[in-house]
Amino acid sequence: MEFRDLLPHRRMVRHYAPEAVPRDVVERMVSTVRRAPSAGYSQGQRLLVVTEEAGRAEIARIFDEVAGWTSPDDREPWLESAPVHILVCTREADYHERYQRPDKLQDGDEIEWPVPYWFVDAGAALMLLLLAAVDEGLAAGVSGVPLDAAAEIRASFGVPDAVSLVTLVTIGVSAPDPGWSAVTSRKTQPRRAPDEFVRWERW
Ligand SMILES: Cc1cc2nc3c(=O)[nH]c(=O)nc-3n(C[C@H](O)[C@H](O)[C@H](O)COP(=O)(O)O)c2cc1C
Repeated sequence: MEFRDLLPHRRMVRHYAPEAVPRDVVERMVSTVRRAPSAGYSQGQRLLVVTEEAGRAEIARIFDEVAGWTSPDDREPWLESAPVHILVCTREADYHERYQRPDKLQDGDEIEWPVPYWFVDAGAALMLLLLAAVDEGLAAGVSGVPLDAAAEIRASFGVPDAVSLVTLVTIGVSAPDPGWSAVTSRKTQPRRAPDEFVRWERW
């Protein structure tokens, strides 16, 4: 699909049909992250892909119970329905290691980081996953990872301390949107027009 055709189909989907996503499709989607930009080519992005039922149920349990997610009674299941969970992570140390190499040193020192590039790069990886899902005829959603949930996921799935969990991406065949999902979508508020967020030549 051409980019200009694909992009309008990208939106957060928070409810999925029971169909499984074949392994080769998951592999294609996660492989797109090889093409993600990364500061200094640090390649600090990491993905934890969870497709087995027990692992997905554990993530759903953690978000529901540990992180205290509460939902309206009429809620359609989100995490519970998704056949693919991907935790988008970043390893900050990769950036420090890279920027301590001679070509990146400034007056002999590691740069003063203008913003944390490791999170910028995780965002780029996240966007590729979202678009790759649409390109495969699937849908994706994103959730933040509350701190309590991150600690539990780290313990349950053996995520090393050096790796930060940035977001959870859910992927699958889309099912009808839960009603509550409209609150944070274009169904209740328009997307900003370019002239509201773009300044030309001077702020
Ligand atoms: C970093 C990040 C964290 C997000 N966290 C959540 C979340 O915890 N729960 C949720 O329902 N949506 C979450 N979203 C999805 C946004 O709410 C969604 O992208 C936004 O409302 C715009 O809707 P759209 O993606 O369908 O255009 C998150 C998105 C991003 C980029």
